[in-house]
Amino acid sequence: MTKNQVIVALGLVCAWTWMQGTHGEYLIGVGSYDMTGPAADVNMMGYANFEQNTAGIHFRLRARAFIVAQSLQGPRFAFINLDAGMASQLLTIKVLERLHLRFGNLYTEQNVAISGTHTHAGPGGYLQYVVYSVTSLGYVQQSFDAIANAIELSIIQAHNNLKPGSIFMNIGDVKDAGINRSPSAYLQNPVEERARYPTNVDTQMTLLRFVNGASGKSIGAFNWFATHGTSMSRDNKLISGDNKGVAARLFEDWFASQNKSSFSNTNSTIPDIWQLVKKARSIKATGGKDCNQKASQASKVRKNDGSLFVGAFCQSNVGDVSPNVLGAFCIDSGKPCDFNHSSCNGNDQLCVGRGPGYPDEILSTKIIGERQFKTAVELFESASEELVGKIDYRHVYLNFTDTEVKLDSNKVVKTCPAALGPGFAAGTTDGPGVFGFQQGDTDINPYWKGVRDLLKEPSQYQVDCQNPKQVLLSTGEMFDPYPWAPAILPIQILRLGKLIILSVPGEFTTMAGRRLREAVKETLISSSNGEFNNETHVVIAGLSNTYSQYIATFDEYKQQRYEAASTLYGPHTLSAYIQEFKKLAQAMVEENNIPMKGPSPPDLSSVQISLLFGPFADSPPEGIKFGDIKEDISFPKKGYFTKGDTPSATFWSANPRYDLLTEGTFAAVERLHGERWIAVYDDDDLSLFFKWKVDNSSYQGLATVEWEIPNDAVSGVYRLKHFGATRITILSHISYFAGTSSAFAVQ
Ligand SMILES: *[C@@H]1O[C@H](CO)[C@@H](O)[C@H](O)[C@H]1NC(C)=O
Ligand SMILES: *[C@@H]1O[C@H](CO)[C@@H](O)[C@H](O)[C@H]1NC(C)=O
Ligand SMILES: *[C@@H]1O[C@H](CO)[C@@H](O)[C@H](O)[C@H]1NC(C)=O
Ligand SMILES: *[C@@H]1O[C@H](CO)[C@@H](O)[C@H](O)[C@H]1NC(C)=O
Ligand SMILES: *[C@@H]1O[C@H](CO)[C@@H](O)[C@H](O)[C@H]1NC(C)=O
Ligand SMILES: *[C@@H]1O[C@H](CO)[C@@H](O)[C@H](O)[C@H]1NC(C)=O
Repeated sequence: MTKNQVIVALGLVCAWTWMQGTHGEYLIGVGSYDMTGPAADVNMMGYANFEQNTAGIHFRLRARAFIVAQSLQGPRFAFINLDAGMASQLLTIKVLERLHLRFGNLYTEQNVAISGTHTHAGPGGYLQYVVYSVTSLGYVQQSFDAIANAIELSIIQAHNNLKPGSIFMNIGDVKDAGINRSPSAYLQNPVEERARYPTNVDTQMTLLRFVNGASGKSIGAFNWFATHGTSMSRDNKLISGDNKGVAARLFEDWFASQNKSSFSNTNSTIPDIWQLVKKARSIKATGGKDCNQKASQASKVRKNDGSLFVGAFCQSNVGDVSPNVLGAFCIDSGKPCDFNHSSCNGNDQLCVGRGPGYPDEILSTKIIGERQFKTAVELFESASEELVGKIDYRHVYLNFTDTEVKLDSNKVVKTCPAALGPGFAAGTTDGPGVFGFQQGDTDINPYWKGVRDLLKEPSQYQVDCQNPKQVLLSTGEMFDPYPWAPAILPIQILRLGKLIILSVPGEFTTMAGRRLREAVKETLISSSNGEFNNETHVVIAGLSNTYSQYIATFDEYKQQRYEAASTLYGPHTLSAYIQEFKKLAQAMVEENNIPMKGPSPPDLSSVQISLLFGPFADSPPEGIKFGDIKEDISFPKKGYFTKGDTPSATFWSANPRYDLLTEGTFAAVERLHGERWIAVYDDDDLSLFFKWKVDNSSYQGLATVEWEIPNDAVSGVYRLKHFGATRITILSHISYFAGTSSAFAVQ
């Protein structure tokens, strides 16, 4: 090449790179916001266990959002993943109202999808139907507000971040992160159908990698994979994102550490431990000190300035998939439970699933999270298939009370008003329910029939319609003091090139999900002119937009295990979904752009009942200030701590509900840098625990900060810190305080 040719060639390369760089296929924005609700007194959503009330934080909950747009004027949609048990109709309604005020008609029910990860370790009380707020003693405004604000703010962030970029998709398998918890029900599905699949759960993870067009930098990744958020048990009281929350924390931290040349904490000269011990011994607990509202946010390790990489782990057809992969065993005998009923000599409460870290549920949560995280990293690093083509969406509301369904045989059947069977009361091997019920029960004893009839005797129509489910609670026929179950449900299809996302308002079982995905794909292919083909990839986004419990197949329904007993609208529930999703897919292919509406779901905010009161005011005992140490660090014999040790300190404190310290922290581990203390871990770290309780003799609040020193902690001088807020009298303003432990050395 001559010199001129080289210059021309370089110019072309630059121009090409520039074009590649600034003109991505889509506009993409990501956002994330803290949605951690009240860390004391509020019943957790998921296990319906009256005794499972929040009492601290393992790590924080987040709303993570992405928005994709064809162009500024073109079609767009927003997808929000919540570290929550599920989406809620009331949340969706109220968030859409806020988005309307802010953005006009840019984000509506049509093109916004809000999905829950299904953690069972988040505060409840944010759903509007009675069944979902019995154990939380009704509606909990604080829970609701934390989530609604986070959804709105994560969308605003993603919206403000919209920039040209590219999206890459990758698909792979996650190993050992889920087993079928109702295998006997799965076996009811036709043998030819089962023969088409290698296992009785879906192991596939679908991942999207979002890349900024100008910088070529990755800005986020979302993936979908099915496994229950029940690694943390029904006895846990610490707020936690469960295994998907762990995976997201690991993934975002992994990304942040990727291109850091040297970890700023490291010090080439390893300090002498006795120097550190000497230094640490000279620094005592500070005692409680007043501080301002922003103090806790200033100690946040990952500050949310809107530019954070967002990694989200979303839920899919999770109905019968348990993360307790060692299987279920009788807690008395240690033997496997009864196969068909998941009970031990007829007792459902003795049969409990084991996670891979058994008996340590926090370890199980980490292991199942790590397994998803590892697959996600592999898929992320090797994602090379760029998505191109249309962005589109369709959404409709349906009244599931009596939808007519035309079966393949041309027979017309109907869905039923919502109802729960006795298998629902039995609970699952992830969290057993009420004594006296078993999964698979198709009978109700006279005592429980009597109790049921006091609440509501089901109509004969309902009894016939739900058969072979026996009706334990006819929730679709119960309206006092307000409706017990939803009747109106949204279904939604989002399209991103060849990727199709199905937002479903519940938990499809493995086989139910497979049938739905296939039916939609077939419809798209057969009714389009090659625009869709067998490369079209369909994923299910579970627990989206509202919640209506489970969707089992017609065959599984016959066995009436938990998932079938919780399939609200009768034996043909799945057939109704498939029929209606096919119509929606058809409308998308035909470019029928008239929004399909259907009947609007009710807004029940004005009739909600709240029976959880307080806290009204908290003040410390005589002579003590909030933030003062109750129990300081207890030093081991060797005089310092090493990796794996757990230094902890307990502080006099107020109820954490006075201020949720959103995007802040209740706890921090600080390390001494010269003469400055720098927060290096906070209550969003898996190694740091914030535990709250009321002292049972003085009735005073106590906050314990506990640090499991991780393997990557650097040697140095550390201390534990607690932040809190209180109201001294019912009329006073919120005031803020902090306290620190004595210093200690870590090697
Ligand atoms: C780290 O930097 C390299 C080189 O700049 C880049 O190719 C890579 O994608 C980056 N890794 C991540 C996770 O961004
Ligand atoms: C489970 O129930 C089925 C009938 O649905 C029966 O054929 C089978 O033997 C039962 N299995 C066990 C292990 O009890
Ligand atoms: C749903 O359908 C049932 C049965 O037709 C009807 O009674 C009910 O009013 C409908 N609900 C709404 C909100 O339209
Ligand atoms: C798509 O169809 C082609 C040709 O019929 C076939 O070779 C390929 O395996 C199919 N791919 C998938 C994902 O089914
Ligand atoms: C590194 O070690 C030296 C000597 O012990 C100390 O003066 C310095 O503050 C340390 N730097 C950091 C970042 O900890
Ligand atoms: C107070 O709590 C401790 C531990 O939680 C327990 O051992 C003790 O019995 C309780 N005391 C009273 C008076 O309830």
